[in-house]
Amino acid sequence: MPAAPPHVAPFDAAAEGYDAAFSDRLLGRLLRGLLHETLDRHLPRQGRLLELGCGTGVDATFMARRGANVVAGDLSAEMLAATRTRAEAAGVGDRVEAVRLDLARPLELRTSHGDAADGGLDRSFDGAWSAFGPLNCVADRRALGAALQRWLEPGARVVLVPMARFAPWDWLWYGAHLRPGAAVRRLRRYPRADLPGGGRLPLTYPTLRQLDAEMGPGLRRVEARGLGVLLPISEAAGLVERLPRLFEAAAAIERGLAGRGLSPHLCDHVAVVYERDR
Ligand SMILES: C[S@@+](CC[C@H](N)C(=O)[O-])C[C@H]1O[C@@H](n2cnc3c(N)ncnc32)[C@H](O)[C@@H]1O
Repeated sequence: MPAAPPHVAPFDAAAEGYDAAFSDRLLGRLLRGLLHETLDRHLPRQGRLLELGCGTGVDATFMARRGANVVAGDLSAEMLAATRTRAEAAGVGDRVEAVRLDLARPLELRTSHGDAADGGLDRSFDGAWSAFGPLNCVADRRALGAALQRWLEPGARVVLVPMARFAPWDWLWYGAHLRPGAAVRRLRRYPRADLPGGGRLPLTYPTLRQLDAEMGPGLRRVEARGLGVLLPISEAAGLVERLPRLFEAAAAIERGLAGRGLSPHLCDHVAVVYERDR
């Protein structure tokens, strides 16, 4: 098995504190509520689903509890271990297969169902998703687009939730904290992130047009919406906990708008949905 790229090790160090820093906080729960509604609209409840960059397995476990069989892929061994533990604890360990997957080299995927490299996984997924940033961790997503075209059943959908390039919350939050460099961090030529646990990693922020090109002609974009548009960036999680009613109302308003008037270009995260050619 090829060695993991050096920038991935930081996520091993981040795994232990990840839920405390994000998933278990009110902001994380509000964002996941909006994500789960999006997954509900586009992915089947039953069938075989693939998660791209599963982290600690919160969403893989959620989808398995709804009835799906999930292949949960990630490059970090610690994240995969956390996913297995969570799925077991939720009683769906038999429906979540946590496997090593490098989004930059997706065709090395090996699952109990077959090997991607030799085509054993062709058309074997009824849907896929990637939530809250894994796609930003790879420089180029064309290999992933090609793999999804092979793996997805005709008509199946993939929900991609990368971090967007133009994020007004960054500008407001860091502007108010007099940190102009951080306010424009996503616009830098070579953006980087500091991770909980002390690691740093290079990031990319694809535009919609870039993502469309990377997914390729066999995947047609059917939707693009900001996700958590009225909610702040994770650095402001403490603010959300100080004003819980305000931000719960903001999430409810976003749900009520159902995408109307929410720009997919000006937001922290964007949900982009593609459908495999029939
Ligand atoms: C910000 S976390 C998001 C995790 C999860 N999707 C969630 O919603 O909490 C990013 C995840 O992407 C994974 N990742 C980073 N680079 C990757 C790569 N090249 N291939 C697969 N996973 C990767 C990390 O290990 C980490 O678990």
